[in-house]
Amino acid sequence: MKQLVVIAAVVMTGIGSVALTEQSGSLREIYSRPTSQWPAPTVDAGVQWKELEALPKPDSSRIALLKDPQVILGKTLFFDPRLSASNQVSCSSCHDPDLSWADGRAVSLGHDHQQGKRNTQSLLNVARMETFFWDGRARSLQQQAINPISTHHEMAEDLTKLVPKIRAIKGYHPLFKAAYGSEEVSMEGILDAIAAFEETIVSRSNRFDEFVRGKYNSLTDEEIEGLHLFRTKARCMNCHFGPDFSDQQFHNIGLTYYGRKYEDLGRYQITKKAEDVGKFRTPSLRDVMRTRPWMHNGLFDDMDGIINMYNNGMPQPKPQPHQLKDSLFPKTDPLIKKLDLTAAERKALQAFLQAITAAPFKVQRPELPK
Ligand code: HEC
Ligand code: HEC
Repeated sequence: MKQLVVIAAVVMTGIGSVALTEQSGSLREIYSRPTSQWPAPTVDAGVQWKELEALPKPDSSRIALLKDPQVILGKTLFFDPRLSASNQVSCSSCHDPDLSWADGRAVSLGHDHQQGKRNTQSLLNVARMETFFWDGRARSLQQQAINPISTHHEMAEDLTKLVPKIRAIKGYHPLFKAAYGSEEVSMEGILDAIAAFEETIVSRSNRFDEFVRGKYNSLTDEEIEGLHLFRTKARCMNCHFGPDFSDQQFHNIGLTYYGRKYEDLGRYQITKKAEDVGKFRTPSLRDVMRTRPWMHNGLFDDMDGIINMYNNGMPQPKPQPHQLKDSLFPKTDPLIKKLDLTAAERKALQAFLQAITAAPFKVQRPELPK
């Protein structure tokens, strides 16, 4: 591996004071130590970054959770197409466990084969998110789930009909009884159970997690170089940080397609603030190599292309003369800058994205009650 002569690093200590240290040695030596001793990342002033970390290890409590009656009920509902008007579309039609809980499509396909406008998000680790949807418009998983059930191009169910419909399926009575102590079917019970099930949808440990837990031979030299680039020269740490590789904030990285066919104003549609035009929630990058196609519109299915686009500073649309006074004209986030990564560095960065992608858990589909 390339020897790194000297890294001058600004190390933040727990209380926020700043000390200057020098570290030398190979990248492998520099990173084969607790994350608190890693060199400081390249982040701009004002970014409240957190170090990349492993997720908590799935343990015996996860196995116990899978047997929780509320989770079993939620899982059954999640896979049941009778939650839709046509009895043909379930949550799992779009969030398919065999496709990393997404659908492999650019944009979703729902009721009557109608296309949605956005890419189906993977549900891996979804309960760790603070807001839901690309634009953050739902604040809880319960509030989120109402949306696809009733949206005309997803499941198109009339919400006043859903509870009587599920109540009429006798096989659900014991499942509700086990979960809530009563056979009574309620909207709240349905949504809470689906949310409880979604909390069990988590990633498996990936090789980066193992590295961080001290198994320092689980990453190759190239992957460690990619980790270092991710945190420094490639500037990814400005937004994709912490154990989720997401700041959970909203940014416009230049994909608004303002005034064009694929226009999507993102967060602006929720807040109506001009500064939110084109902003989307930073997606987690865990398991990212299995969740293509990427971005809110699913227009990108080539990771080389995405990395090249970041390297070139992403699209930075300039207003036409007639748009100069348009307060909604999208502005690409100033955290996005041209990167000057060499071909070898771009390759190492992608190798790191592979190292944060784990093999999937096998998921057994539940039997649907009659
Ligand atoms: C027709 C396809 C489709 C169906 C059916 C569907 N979803 Fe989704 N789901 C999507 C799309 C597309 C998005 C992103 C939409 C957006 O951001 O506007 C999404 C987003 C989500 C999110 C937010 C994830 C995040 O990271 O914020 C959750 C949670 C979710 N869906 C759960 C469900 C549940 C539960 C059901 C069943 C009740 C369901 N979905 C049914 C397509 C679908
Ligand atoms: C300014 C914040 C910011 C920076 C810096 C940034 N990203 Fe992103 N990233 C985002 C946002 C926001 C999205 C979603 C944008 C959208 O869909 O319009 C995204 C999307 C992605 C996606 C698609 C993921 C998916 O599930 O669809 C990948 C891959 C990605 N970023 C990798 C990187 C890499 C690699 C770097 C460093 C070279 C980086 N990002 C730097 C904010 C950022």
